Amino acid sequence: MIRPIRLLGDPILRRSTDPVERFDEDLASFLDDLVDTMYHAEGVGLAAPQVGDSRRATVIDVSEERDGSLVLELVNPRILRSEGTIPSEEGCLSIPGLTETIERAAEVEVEYQDRHGERNVVAGTELLSRALQHEIDHLNGILFIDYLGPLKRRLVVREWRRSMAEQGIQVAD
Ligand code: CO
Repeated sequence: MIRPIRLLGDPILRRSTDPVERFDEDLASFLDDLVDTMYHAEGVGLAAPQVGDSRRATVIDVSEERDGSLVLELVNPRILRSEGTIPSEEGCLSIPGLTETIERAAEVEVEYQDRHGERNVVAGTELLSRALQHEIDHLNGILFIDYLGPLKRRLVVREWRRSMAEQGIQVAD
């Protein structure tokens, strides 16, 4: 089921999420919804708060296929190790139309649980590294614009709100 995506200004995007303890049918169907919504929105990642849910879960797909065969479902993810820094352009489905260049670690290693509770580790560089860091940030109430300087951030957010208003999309302050 495709769920509506929450936009910047929605307080749930700023809340930290709760660790998942039950790996049941409800979690499985929630992860299915996250994946469906991510593909529908043509994003490379989507985190639970972006669909109004406070579970510590996110999905990522940086593959060409985008058919569910290579999707990563990360429950209770945690960065074990990060290395280097690299600037790159980034965007977010919760701030559609806005892209800015920010610095992130070049490589990360992340521990997580799958939908059955099995522990796994994934290591990422390039787009996967960036997506892992971006989505784990969402689970801590952090958005990519938080890495901009305060003046720059205020400016781009004001412009974004104006462009949303022009498209008739209401966003909260
Ligand atoms: Co995002």
